[in-house]
Amino acid sequence: MADISSHPIPRHVAIIMDGNGRWAAARKLPRAAGHREGAKSVRRVIEAAIGAGVHYLTLFAFSSENWARPAEEVSDLTFLMKHYLRSELAELHEQGVRLVVIGERERFGPALAQELEAAERKTAENDRLVLVMALSYGGRADIVRAARRAIEAGIPAVELTEKAFSHLLYTDGIPDPDLLIRTSGERRISNFLLWQLAYAEMVFTPVLWPDFGADEFAAALEDYALRERRFGARPA
Ligand code: FPP
Repeated sequence: MADISSHPIPRHVAIIMDGNGRWAAARKLPRAAGHREGAKSVRRVIEAAIGAGVHYLTLFAFSSENWARPAEEVSDLTFLMKHYLRSELAELHEQGVRLVVIGERERFGPALAQELEAAERKTAENDRLVLVMALSYGGRADIVRAARRAIEAGIPAVELTEKAFSHLLYTDGIPDPDLLIRTSGERRISNFLLWQLAYAEMVFTPVLWPDFGADEFAAALEDYALRERRFGARPA
């Protein structure tokens, strides 16, 4: 392995956690078993991110498009998120993790939405890792919502700069991701953080999400460290 100790660690890593279904199918298990196993990877990756000194970790846990899956799978995923929140919150809090939820949380119903809000409030002062959970999130919906908020706030057109617009997105206050990882061999953004990923480095790995752990996370950071980021500028 190359020595990355002298190279920058990404401040913000975003992950499209893909391949739970294929992991389960390969074992002739129900899809829910793949999602359950995927939740274990979430735990491992949070620890790996803290260990590596990553400051923001954004996980695409449920997309706006996931509502179109069969009702049983939607309910399995919702149950898993609820269960995860209840069983992990105390430990996340103890580890200094701040939870931030982006997306249309109201669509999960008032009870879960309130629970998510309470978790955000409880962990609001933590600063070791900011864990951003994208729930019922879509990149286009984020941008349209920001445009509506700008109109509702009566912001004059000339004042609507990129910076001003970014404050209207769900991710206000969170720096743009430096690195996007997508598992399972797919090479698409799939309506994830469309605005925020403008300059992100991308790492695509064939590993299915339930098989993703600390080693795979470290390999992605290593890949990132070896890239040269120019943000559109020409090299000197
Ligand atoms: C993609 O696999 C994954 C999802 C749709 C949801 C991600 C959810 C988890 C990792 C588990 C629960 C989350 C938390 C926060 C505890 P897929 O079903 O699209 O896989 P496939 O493409 O192989 O069918």
